[in-house]
Amino acid sequence: MSIKLIAIYLGCLHTAGQLIIEARKVLVGAVKPAKIKNEGHMVHIKKKRGFEIPEREATPEDLYMMTRRGFVKSMGLLSAFLITGCDDFVPAPGSEKTNSPKKPGKKPSGLYPARRNDRYLLDKPLTDELVAARYNNFYEFSTRKSRIWRLVERFETRPWEVEVTGLVEKPRVYDVDEIVKMMGLEERLYRLRCVEAWSMAVPWTGFPMRDFIKKVQPLSSARYVKMVTFLNKEVAPGQRKIWLPWPYTEGLTMAEATNELTLLATGIYGHELPGQHGAPIRLIVPWKYGFKSIKSIVSIEFTDRMPRTFWNTVAPSEYDFWANVDPEVPHPRWSQATERVIGTNERRPTIKYNGYSRFVAGLYED
Ligand code: MTE
Repeated sequence: MSIKLIAIYLGCLHTAGQLIIEARKVLVGAVKPAKIKNEGHMVHIKKKRGFEIPEREATPEDLYMMTRRGFVKSMGLLSAFLITGCDDFVPAPGSEKTNSPKKPGKKPSGLYPARRNDRYLLDKPLTDELVAARYNNFYEFSTRKSRIWRLVERFETRPWEVEVTGLVEKPRVYDVDEIVKMMGLEERLYRLRCVEAWSMAVPWTGFPMRDFIKKVQPLSSARYVKMVTFLNKEVAPGQRKIWLPWPYTEGLTMAEATNELTLLATGIYGHELPGQHGAPIRLIVPWKYGFKSIKSIVSIEFTDRMPRTFWNTVAPSEYDFWANVDPEVPHPRWSQATERVIGTNERRPTIKYNGYSRFVAGLYED
């Protein structure tokens, strides 16, 4: 056995030991750290520091229960876990390629920065690029925002296929660069409001989803679009959490998907998306809470049934299918009236539909 393998094995033993200790604390309810004021967290936190909130409060209730059940299950599967369950697992070379077509296509060049579309302007300064790049939600890699940019280092996003399937005239598998060439790119400045009550403002590069939908021609029976993220637990250690409903899935109604704001983004800050922002292609729906803006899409399916989605499956009473930004509807565990602007000390009032009412209010009149 190589030294690296022994180190990984010892690391796993350590992690398992930590987990047993943490499990005991959770099960006997011994963990009681301080509470953050007016700011939400979608996930459980294992190591406690002064600024963190207890797992019981930080985790959606259903997820918390599932976490406990999943944990007990994990104990039963300890030997299997020792082989596969380390959070900081180092992927084997070549194991990242589950999304690979056989022959990589030629990457189009000269696409970034794309021309800015001035129809979509901001009422606040852009977030600093480094701040946005180091404060991410990408549960496939970690529940800790500040760790993700490092954990995606070996996440290979080329070649990458996107399957268009379901109720559509032209079902087929596309290479992502073929889509980019076919669609062309533009830049838009959008606000993003996370359900956890923080916000940012960034320049995305991409193309309107409705133009793509026109090309692939859904059938008239299609009522929803379901989108799915890659599934590869060799690369994405978060996907080893067997109590979460991987792969990450999101959905929109056809009216939402064809709204002019809905963007399929391939770039940010004038260059290609880095891994932590959901490379190579992700959704942006700026009037909805950020969890709707699914990252690293591998499948777009047209369907006549409302799709089950990741967070709605985890905690239906906390994360509904619609998830439209609304300061007057609090999350069951925190207020949505204000938001913290990341990278600043500013807290500002949240605006209905994140300030995009004139584009989207008509969608919800009924
Ligand atoms: N997509 C996938 N596949 N996995 C995720 O964990 N997190 C969502 C969304 N898309 C998430 C995802 C959440 S909660 C937010 S707020 C945004 O991505 C964050 O996007 P950013 O990291 O680019 O700021």
